[in-house]
Amino acid sequence: MTARIIGIGAYAPDQVVTNQDLTKFLDTNDAWIRERTGIGARHVSTSEGTSALATEAAKRAIADAGISPEEIEIVIVATSSPDRAFPSAAADVQGAIGAKHAVAFDITAACSGFIYALHIVQGFIQAGIYKTALIIGAYTLSKVLDWTDRSSCILFGDGAGAAVVRADETGVVKTLVGSDGTKNDVLYCQARSLENCLTGGKPELGFMQMDGQEVFKFAVKKVPEIVNAILEETGTDREAVQHYLLHQANIRILEAASRRLKVPMDKIPVNIERYGNTSAASIPILLDEMHRDGRLKRGDTLVMAGFGAGLTWGAALMTW
Ligand code: UT7
Repeated sequence: MTARIIGIGAYAPDQVVTNQDLTKFLDTNDAWIRERTGIGARHVSTSEGTSALATEAAKRAIADAGISPEEIEIVIVATSSPDRAFPSAAADVQGAIGAKHAVAFDITAACSGFIYALHIVQGFIQAGIYKTALIIGAYTLSKVLDWTDRSSCILFGDGAGAAVVRADETGVVKTLVGSDGTKNDVLYCQARSLENCLTGGKPELGFMQMDGQEVFKFAVKKVPEIVNAILEETGTDREAVQHYLLHQANIRILEAASRRLKVPMDKIPVNIERYGNTSAASIPILLDEMHRDGRLKRGDTLVMAGFGAGLTWGAALMTW
């Protein structure tokens, strides 16, 4: 038995902030952002938190799968921007959708989170522990961005993508994940500082800090490396793959991956122009779009690959 995605859904808040909108308070311009990143606009939430986005994406995925929430045995939300430190966003989703038989918890693997979640449920399914899972990538990064830092805030957007995963004969062929905690300061967001009755200070909350060029160098090397590794380890010819769904971080990273992998850009779908980087939500949002517009056909071979803070990375090869 393996894990198969049987339903997919996505949701982003209504408010759209264009590059032009950013120029009202930031020393930037539409041409720079488009040329350097491929981004034209991003969704930014003013009222719905991470759990609300995750819940709406989950409801859509469940409707797409045509199952009852009570059939779900495990809910995993991949996020680093939960509404509350505890309980988990997954607990919020579980309660909101009525998945009353499910165990629920969050994972933090930044932009690789959706692949990590798939990797985890794949393990549970292969072990025969659970048959039906709900995995969600959900982020409201807008609240942790330093909106005065033009080298980072222009990149990110809010959104959520969810998948219902079920035990089946076909589906995920292999997942591959990794981490390098020695690079944990390349991209991070400080949580509450250690202040308490002994220190007497007031806890401070941090904003996202990013060494963009380091992340860029890592991504253009790591993404082709893990895609090649998963092709090799599964004995899959690169031409046999219909779509390479890569984390939507920067169009130049996608183009570099295309060149290094010798895979044409028409096999690497792109929606970063409208969403920016939605972290762990980017791959399921893309999957949802392609599912709805008919680009994904049953039996297609897909490779998904993500990378992010940690540093983390992950890839999956699966039959749709
Ligand atoms: O999920 C993972 C999340 N993170 C990433 O994927 C980040 C990966 N890195 C990147 O995407 C790129 O490194 C950035 C888009 C963040 C930056 O692009 P870059 O080509 O590496 O630009 P840079 O940092 O080398 O900056 C080039 C110039 C600088 O000006 P000077 O020093 O040459 O005069 C920057 O100050 O561009 C300037 N600049 C901007 N100008 C207008 C930086 N940001 C902006 C901006 N608008 N928003």
